[in-house]
Amino acid sequence: MTIATLSLVVALISSLACYGHANPTHPCRSYCGNITIDYPFGLQSGCGHPGFKDLLFCINDVLMFHISSGSYRVLDVDYAYQSLTLHDPHMSTCDSIVLGRRGNGFVVHESFAPYLNPTPDNVFMLIGCSAQSPLFQGFPGKHYPCQNVSGMGCEEYYGCPAWDDMDIAPRRIGSTYGPGPPECCAIAFEAIKAVNLSKLGCEGYSSAYNLAPLRLEAEGGAFGWSYGIRVKYSVQGQDVFCKACEATGGSCGYNVVDDKSSGSTNSLCMCVGWNSTSNCDSVRSTSYSLTWSPIEALAFVILLISALY
Ligand SMILES: *[C@@H]1O[C@H](CO)[C@@H](O)[C@H](O)[C@H]1NC(C)=O
Ligand SMILES: *[C@@H]1O[C@H](CO)[C@@H](O)[C@H](O)[C@H]1NC(C)=O
Ligand SMILES: *[C@@H]1O[C@H](CO)[C@@H](O)[C@H](O)[C@H]1NC(C)=O
Ligand SMILES: *[C@@H]1O[C@H](CO)[C@@H](O)[C@H](O)[C@H]1NC(C)=O
Repeated sequence: MTIATLSLVVALISSLACYGHANPTHPCRSYCGNITIDYPFGLQSGCGHPGFKDLLFCINDVLMFHISSGSYRVLDVDYAYQSLTLHDPHMSTCDSIVLGRRGNGFVVHESFAPYLNPTPDNVFMLIGCSAQSPLFQGFPGKHYPCQNVSGMGCEEYYGCPAWDDMDIAPRRIGSTYGPGPPECCAIAFEAIKAVNLSKLGCEGYSSAYNLAPLRLEAEGGAFGWSYGIRVKYSVQGQDVFCKACEATGGSCGYNVVDDKSSGSTNSLCMCVGWNSTSNCDSVRSTSYSLTWSPIEALAFVILLISALY
């Protein structure tokens, strides 16, 4: 065997090892801007959990989250805490109040309801709701639902500069409830299950979360809150399958060919160069030899020929 043949064989073997896999240990992991996309989410077809298919989109390095009520920008995905932080450009903040029902609110299709929910410490503040709003049915009776959530509420929100530009001064809840409903009603998602501005008869909303719940209230109040929607996600079953798959270096996905969208029967473990219905340590099916790419076959033939000389 000549030096030239040897170096050709070495070159081919190393190209074979790198063939088509930028990140061989995680066939499904990818990035959108600086956000990592990993299980249960996926940007490539067949990656992630089928229940979260068509939920995230990467547009010009901006990660977008799409549900019934609209599209949101994803600011962060926290895989350890299983949460997403979303931003709606038409949501009110401490700096500005957006009315005219331009905001998305937050409504998920009922099929998602058990798996995607704003966190219990996320406050929604509904702004400019009409007296006829379902929120105030029975108001000022005993079913008044507005309350502070995790120490965040409208009393503090009224201290924001955004209210300085408003024509109407905020109407606070007085001892006699004043002439009508308050200009802002703070509420937990759990109490209403959907933030649908038209259904609730509200003009706008804000959403905030406090990453440091033990922080003293005196420190900044509503100025110090983070504005956005914190959503907790959970995965339907399948954890055992996925843990075993990832432990053997695979990425969890599903079969896109006969996808039934919900069943765990069509889950796939994507291993380097092949797909398994269990994990990457399982015995490869006989069809593996047929999945060789031309370059792999060529390398094999050259290897065989050079071995003969
Ligand atoms: C991503 O980059 C932006 C600035 O471009 C930064 O504000 C943000 O914190 C970064 N996010 C993560 C998860 O690193
Ligand atoms: C919000 O409520 C309105 C009126 O009830 C309804 O027509 C609309 O479909 C709802 N939006 C969503 C996203 O569910
Ligand atoms: C919410 O918190 C503020 C500030 O701590 C307090 O003044 C207000 O009474 C609370 N409101 C309710 C409804 O508990
Ligand atoms: C593995 O499955 C995914 C999703 O169904 C598919 O896109 C991919 O082509 C498959 N890979 C192989 C090597 O069969």
